[in-house]
Order: sequence, then structure tokens, then C-alpha cells
Amino acid sequence: MNFSSSEVIKCPTPVREIKDVYQQYGVKLIVKEDYQTHPIISGNKWRKLNGNLQHMQSQGYEGIISFGGAHSNHLYALAGLRQLFDIPVIVLVRGDGFDPENETLAFAKTSGVKLYFIDRAAYREKERGEIANKIISEFPNYLVIPEGGSNQFALSGIQELYSEIKVQIPDYSHLVLSMGTGGTAGGLLSCMKKDRAQMVVYPALKGDWMQAEIINYVKLFNKNVVQIPNKLTVRSAFHFGGYGKIPTDLLLFIDEVKNKYDLPLDPIYTGKAFFGLMEDIKNKFYKPGDIVVFIHTGGLRE
Ligand SMILES: Cc1ncc(COP(=O)(O)O)c(C=O)c1O
Repeated sequence: MNFSSSEVIKCPTPVREIKDVYQQYGVKLIVKEDYQTHPIISGNKWRKLNGNLQHMQSQGYEGIISFGGAHSNHLYALAGLRQLFDIPVIVLVRGDGFDPENETLAFAKTSGVKLYFIDRAAYREKERGEIANKIISEFPNYLVIPEGGSNQFALSGIQELYSEIKVQIPDYSHLVLSMGTGGTAGGLLSCMKKDRAQMVVYPALKGDWMQAEIINYVKLFNKNVVQIPNKLTVRSAFHFGGYGKIPTDLLLFIDEVKNKYDLPLDPIYTGKAFFGLMEDIKNKFYKPGDIVVFIHTGGLRE
């Protein structure tokens, strides 16, 4: 089955200009609405899982084993795969046990995902941990995908995203996106070898390791890389206190963007990134004449 061309996944995803930004600041702001791939398997979750699905199929794996937080978009998307494509999915979940109040877990369970709960200390060891290894060894014919889906097979889907943007907006000057693991940014950057544009990343996490992490992904995706293109800027001041922290001013901003531009944002990733981008536009980090593509990486919940 070619998952990309299946009727449930919408690719290429649309692009849309936010016109009044140009009128006010001379910066052309275009949103790549990648959340529109699918309401459940949305944005970069689809892009990263797509190549994994192809690999699973070509190698004859029976199903997928992965890892995720109990509220994570990754777990939600995996449950979507189970529901839409009937793929056997096992997820090792960080946490103490099933909580029916948690909508992500409840959805995963009703979709038929097999859930194993691992306490936080053991979970930190992930694939290398004794408990995880024991579970994985019981399913030798399952493809193991890391948390967030950022492995070498993710690249083909990210390349697909890159190619769509190149066709839709050939003259862009900046690719802008949120960051968690850095896998999506690393994948896109590894496509940008001959690209004259810059990448600007707005991490959802607090820390100073983002640049290095993205570069690690570039090396993972492109083993022959000799020199990392000098095209990356990390704008790390817009995490709003850290991963998963959602202060009221962020929620107010998200509401305002929804009302003004009819653009839905999530509070963990895209809301923070779009906030940082708008601040940077106002403060002239981007210059008149720039053509900025904001990649909306998904994460919306119904
Ligand atoms: C909606 C959304 N945007 C961005 C990211 C960050 O992507 P990456 O981990 O590839 O940096 C994630 C998840 O991990 C996500 O769910």
C-alpha cells in the first residue's frame, strides 16, 4: 500500500499567505498548513511515520513498537495508524498506568493500540532499558521506532514536505518551524544543501543544546555529510518557561491568531513558534522583502 497516496492523507498540504503582515512589515508570511495531512496523523507526525511505514512494509515487519509520553502527539498519531490502516501498534508509555481521563490514552486504547506502562526512571533508558528490551524481544518482527519518530527512515517523508514547499513557494528566503527533538529541522536542513534560504527554528523546550541536536540529525540523515550548511538560526527565547508550560498570555495569543487569521495553533509547539516568529517580524529580525514560510507542524486536537 502506498500510504502517501491513500485517500485519508491529504498531500500536498496547502499554503496560505497571511496578507496583513506584508502590509504592515513588508515581510511576506506564508503558512505551510501541514497540519492538514490528517486530523490525527498530522504534520510532522505523518511526515516522519510515512517513511517508517514504507520500511515496515518493504521489510515485511508485522507492526510497530514505539515509545511516547501519555499525552504525546506521537502516541496519538500511532493510534491513528492503528485505526486507519489497521497496523498492529505497541507503545511503551511513560507513566504509571492507564488513566481513562487521558484522552490520548483512551483513544489509543479504543483504537486497539497495545499499551505497556513504564515508570519514569525505567523509561529514561528507553530502548536500552531492561524492561523495554524484554517487551521488544517478545515481538521480534516489529519495527522499533524511537519516541517522536525521528529515525533514519523519517527522512523520506520530510523530503516530501521539502519538495512540496519548493514547488509551492520556490522563492522563499526562510523556512521557519518549531522544534522538539530536532528531527524535522535536521531532516529539512539536510535537504537544503543547495538552497540559498535560511532555516529559523523556535524550540518548544528550554536549553542550549538545540543547534547541536539538529546537526546530529543532519548527520544521521546524511552519512556522507562533510560540512553542515551554515543556514541555521535557533531562536531559543520563546519556550514560555519550558516544555509543556502554557501560560495565559500564550493562550491569549493563540486565540487572537485564530480569530484574526483563522489559523489554529497548538500550545506546545506551533503556538510558541508562531509567537516567536511574530515577535521577530515586529522587531525586524526579518527584513522587508523576505519571504518567510512558517511550517505548521500539526499537533492540533479535535
Ligand atoms: C506538532 C509538533 N510540532 C513540532 C514537533 C517537534 O518536532 P521534532 O521532534 O521533529 O523537532 C512535534 C513533536 O515532536 C510536534 O508534535
